[in-house]
Amino acid sequence: MIRLIAALIALTATPLAPTSLYAQNADPALGGQHFARYCATCHGSSAMGDGPRANELNPQPPDLTRLSLRHAGVFPVERVVMRIDGREPLVSHGSPMPVYGGLFDEAPGAAVKTEAGQPILTSGPVVDLVAWLRMVQVEE
Ligand code: HEC
Repeated sequence: MIRLIAALIALTATPLAPTSLYAQNADPALGGQHFARYCATCHGSSAMGDGPRANELNPQPPDLTRLSLRHAGVFPVERVVMRIDGREPLVSHGSPMPVYGGLFDEAPGAAVKTEAGQPILTSGPVVDLVAWLRMVQVEE
C-alpha cells in the first residue's frame, strides 16, 4: 500500500513529458520474463503474434510490436493495461486470451500514467509488462 501511494504521488508530481507517461519504477526486464512465461505461447517470444499456439486461435493474437503504429504513434497504455487485467469490455464478449487480473492480484498495486496523463491503477507485473511492450514497439 505504501508503495502504491508513493507511486501515485510520484506520478502526480511528474510534469507531463513523454517519459512520464509510464510508471517511475517499472521494470521492463522483469516484464519481459512475465511475457516469456505467460504471453509468448500465443503472441510469440518477440511479441509479433507468431507464438506456437497462434494458428489454433480465432481471432489470431495480434502483433504487439505494432501497438503504437496502429494508434497514430502513441502507445495505447490504457487499452493495453485493461486488456491484460481484464477490465477491457471486449474480454467479456469472449476471446481466446485469458484474463490476467486475478493471476497478478497478489502482487503489490502499482500505477501507470495513461496516454491522456491520468494515473491508472493495476498490479506491478502488469506495469512491468507494459514497460517491456513499450520497449519492443517498432517505428514502421
Ligand atoms: C491463449 C492465447 C493468448 C495468451 C496466452 C495471451 N494472449 Fe493476448 N491476445 C490473444 C488474442 C487471440 C488476442 C486478440 C483478441 C482479443 O483482443 O481478445 C489478444 C490480444 C491482446 C492485446 C490487445 C491488442 C490490441 O490491439 O489492443 C494485448 C495488449 C495482449 N493480447 C497482451 C497479452 C499479454 C501481455 C499476455 C500475457 C500476460 C497475453 N496477451 C497472453 C491471445 C493470447
